[in-house]
Amino acid sequence: MIDKQQAQPLTAGLTPNRGVQQISPYVQGQSSISGVAEPIKLSSNESSFGPSPEALRAYETAGTEMHRYADGRQTALRQAIGEVHGLDPDRILCGNGSDELIQMVVRAFVSAGDEALLSENGFVMANIHCLSQGAELVLAPETNHRVDVSNLLSRVTDKTRFCTIANPNNPTGTYLNGSEMRRLRDGLPESCVLLIDNAYAEYVLAEDYEDGIAMVDEYPNVVMTRTFSKIYGLPALRIGWAYAPPDIVDYVNRIRTPFNTNGPALAAAAAAIRDQAFAEKLRNHNHQALKTITAALSAIGIEVIPSVANFYLMRFDPASGRSGTEADQFLQSRGIIPRPAGGSDQYLRITVGTDDENAAVIEALTDYMAS
Ligand SMILES: Cc1ncc(COP(=O)(O)O)c(C=O)c1O
Repeated sequence: MIDKQQAQPLTAGLTPNRGVQQISPYVQGQSSISGVAEPIKLSSNESSFGPSPEALRAYETAGTEMHRYADGRQTALRQAIGEVHGLDPDRILCGNGSDELIQMVVRAFVSAGDEALLSENGFVMANIHCLSQGAELVLAPETNHRVDVSNLLSRVTDKTRFCTIANPNNPTGTYLNGSEMRRLRDGLPESCVLLIDNAYAEYVLAEDYEDGIAMVDEYPNVVMTRTFSKIYGLPALRIGWAYAPPDIVDYVNRIRTPFNTNGPALAAAAAAIRDQAFAEKLRNHNHQALKTITAALSAIGIEVIPSVANFYLMRFDPASGRSGTEADQFLQSRGIIPRPAGGSDQYLRITVGTDDENAAVIEALTDYMAS
């Protein structure tokens, strides 16, 4: 993804900014298989269940107003989020996906020559946004597929201005508990923004998990991002939100374009977050499904990294003669699309789907392991 080589000069003699020259384009999860009309797409951690019916209705109603600019202050959605989570709407920002919020925080707080402290397997778009600001990436190795706070803190310097942790992490699905996240925050300089990327927070049932809200309330340098792309089933609408201290809200708002989120998306997201019964059903389904999948795959010799998110990373032991790359091909021959991940061909990531989709995955992997 990150190409350290200098880019070739462009034909027109243009020179992209130095940071951008180091970036290779983001590669989206595969969405089709040639010759398969309706593949089981489990490559992008989407919800196979789609959005709440309430969100669909709100989207359709708002569509009749598409000849008007949407409310650039995003008032109704910020209010809905505030009511559901007990937060001050003035401390909430909405973005064109949480990805845009991450980008805006980086643009507002990271300058050329700063260091951005990241975990080796974090969400790759954070790396891209930091590079494009001219920052140096400082990557800390993980231990046993988990973010390692000690490894991060041992890499702090007086240039560290930004640190982000996806919690749960992608592609591992593992998480840092509240005390580990606080130890990280306490070891960072006060001049460093800690962005807790909680794209999968709504799936987590672990008791020692903290969703980041209390930390944002306690510390002026902590910001948390969330998304409507996962449990709320609205990735095509591109809506995320951030909860942040007043100064961070202020500076991000200065660079936020006036209409960065569109009207039907804002309306659908407000309806989606108010339907917590729908989200709870999916959270419980995901929890049960992860247990079933983990038991079934472990029984056939596939290591499943313990996940609290809506996806799981599998490791194929090279000693078994199996690999993630081969498993990927085998699954695709059965019409199932997983996602290569984890930085080596020992690994493969799959989204938790419906019970039928998960059963198809287990059946295909059972056949692969026996083949
Ligand atoms: C960890 C993590 N953060 C952020 C995002 C971005 O989500 P979105 O921009 O759709 O809100 C993703 C998307 O997959 C993700 O996995």
